[in-house]
Amino acid sequence: MKLLKMATAECATSAPSTTECSSEEKRKQFGNRFLTDPSQVYKHNAWDNVEWDKDQEDAALVKISENSKELVPKEEREKLEVEAHSFWDKFYLQHQERFFKDRHWLFTEFEELAPKSNNGHGSPGLVQINGREANELNFPGQNAHTRFFEVGCGVGNTVFPVLQANSDGGIFVYCCDFAQSAVDLVKQHPDYDNKRCHAFLCDVAAENPQFPFPKESLDVIVLIFVLSAIAPNKMQRVINNLSELLKPGGKILFRDYGRFDMAQLRFKKGRCLEENFYVRGDGTRVYFFTQDELSSMFKTAGLIEEQNHVDRRLQVNRGKQLKMYRIWIQCKYRKANP
Ligand SMILES: C[S@@+](CC[C@H](N)C(=O)[O-])C[C@H]1O[C@@H](n2cnc3c(N)ncnc32)[C@H](O)[C@@H]1O
Repeated sequence: MKLLKMATAECATSAPSTTECSSEEKRKQFGNRFLTDPSQVYKHNAWDNVEWDKDQEDAALVKISENSKELVPKEEREKLEVEAHSFWDKFYLQHQERFFKDRHWLFTEFEELAPKSNNGHGSPGLVQINGREANELNFPGQNAHTRFFEVGCGVGNTVFPVLQANSDGGIFVYCCDFAQSAVDLVKQHPDYDNKRCHAFLCDVAAENPQFPFPKESLDVIVLIFVLSAIAPNKMQRVINNLSELLKPGGKILFRDYGRFDMAQLRFKKGRCLEENFYVRGDGTRVYFFTQDELSSMFKTAGLIEEQNHVDRRLQVNRGKQLKMYRIWIQCKYRKANP
């Protein structure tokens, strides 16, 4: 089986150093190694749940207020919004499969995606969707008992591990991106099999996005480092639209950048589009979330919170004796059963 390799999405889009990307260690789960003795900091590549003191937080606030002082001019901001897909398209044309990443944490953090008989989501045989038997409808994956959907899939960093790990023929995986080159790369992957998956072009932030499956037909929707690429004023609409696609009991799994992450503090003046939203040198954009913002958006969409966790890690470049404070937020939100 081919192992997917790429720079981490956590850092790949901001011209990372390779050391920065490779410092994630292969461990079973986040949250297991704590730095109790600061003199030992360079002993490992990463430390979990690193608490920030007030001074560190104040220094971060100063950096953010400095790099947010000068906004990108309005006309340019509008162009970045209208042409957002084309910047990502160029990104994948340039980086191609170098964006592949072995996300060893995928199944430990999101056990909903891990192989289980029937994954505990769907029910085998005929499944009702909006009161009709699925096999009366006509759509790819209509006979599956469990349907996953990766939004903003890029080169398929979730799709392919999920397909590789789940040999159960009753599982079907959809994925979309608004960058044509990303969808093309997914379709060209040797593991792409249209009996088990379906990749399509879609801008999920559009007013009325079209999906190749009915509402209430999905067990799991994966949003990994995607919502941060969408303009803040469209995020709520995206979450509302996606929530409608979930079966009752279905879940959205989310992981993305948190406020004060190193990537936010590193932005220079003149890259800020609006509060906590920035543009990288290649035209792709990134937002940095707080837990409260996410909680409010998912709950407004009528979902129930199962997890909303800040993952604060200290990544260490032992060779260069560099400390990198990373902040990611991981959430799970569930649609209520009737
Ligand atoms: C940082 S990349 C993450 C890719 C992938 N989820 C991963 O973790 O490897 C963000 C992805 O979201 C896609 N994207 C951004 N806005 C989108 C939108 N409105 N609709 C669909 N895809 C979008 C981009 O094209 C890009 O592939």
